[in-house]
Amino acid sequence: MTPLSPKPDRSSLAGPRIPNKKITKAVVPAAGLGTRFLPATKAQPKEMLPIYDKPAIQYVIEEAVAAGIKDILVVTGRGKQAIENHFDRSVELEETLQAAGKKGELASIQEISNMVNLHYVRQKEAKGLGHAVLCAKSFIGNDPFAVFLGDDIIDHKKPAICQLMAIWEKYHSPVLAVEEVPLPRTKAYGIIKPKSISGRLYQVLDLVEKPKPEQAPSRLGIVGRYILTPQIFSLLEKTKPGSGGEIQLTDALRRLNAMQPIYAWQFEGVRHDIGNKLEFVKATLAYALKDKTAEAALKEFMRQLVAQ
Ligand code: G1P
Repeated sequence: MTPLSPKPDRSSLAGPRIPNKKITKAVVPAAGLGTRFLPATKAQPKEMLPIYDKPAIQYVIEEAVAAGIKDILVVTGRGKQAIENHFDRSVELEETLQAAGKKGELASIQEISNMVNLHYVRQKEAKGLGHAVLCAKSFIGNDPFAVFLGDDIIDHKKPAICQLMAIWEKYHSPVLAVEEVPLPRTKAYGIIKPKSISGRLYQVLDLVEKPKPEQAPSRLGIVGRYILTPQIFSLLEKTKPGSGGEIQLTDALRRLNAMQPIYAWQFEGVRHDIGNKLEFVKATLAYALKDKTAEAALKEFMRQLVAQ
């Protein structure tokens, strides 16, 4: 078994009262440097790379909107202005499309800027996911909230975050999205030690960030959707740099688990890790094939390509 020390302190199990509130706020960490995707991300945010006809971050924002989220804080960093510009109005472009009678295009870009209330804060140093989430402390206040990692695009008719919200509504406790990862890949994920509850639902007995395969407590890896309670912030403030020298959300969650039960939901849907070049190409193809005007031609092209 993995060296998961120190053991969670369960003496304070009573913990703070968890408010049974609806989730209306979300945090989207988007300050990462995109080093897995160089040189494409040298001068443009990885979140703005298009998956077919939309920048990657728009899929995540649309998932949040579909789940009834009203306010989203995007945690950005230097060189990420394109994200703000994308969700802002573009008056000149609107006027040009209007004058050209391009109603469909006009509606689609207006929809982007009216989608949801977006707020921005800068993470001034790249100190890890836990530190990025901590940047949301005053925005979140005392509310439960959702976290979306932009590298994970999850495709399913019931958005992954809605699946987690259903668990939140039942248990009023933090919920993590998990999926089974190949054993050699545990070192790329937060891995949970699960206790099966029913079907896809687990209670998290413990969790560890990026364990080696031989130390992993299971193959259930955390993917980029979380429902968290505001108690995470004081724990993040006390969390020392962990795996990779970064302040890890997983380490703070481990301490939260001593105060509130944490649940994990093995979500339904196809997940694309678009921070990875191969997965990015697969995601682009998968979304392009959903476009009925492109489907037949693209399939024919792929058939020719693989026949070569
Ligand atoms: C982060 C988290 C990790 C999680 C992963 C999901 O790691 O720290 O626990 O499993 O996202 O994509 P990162 O991919 O930023 O290294």
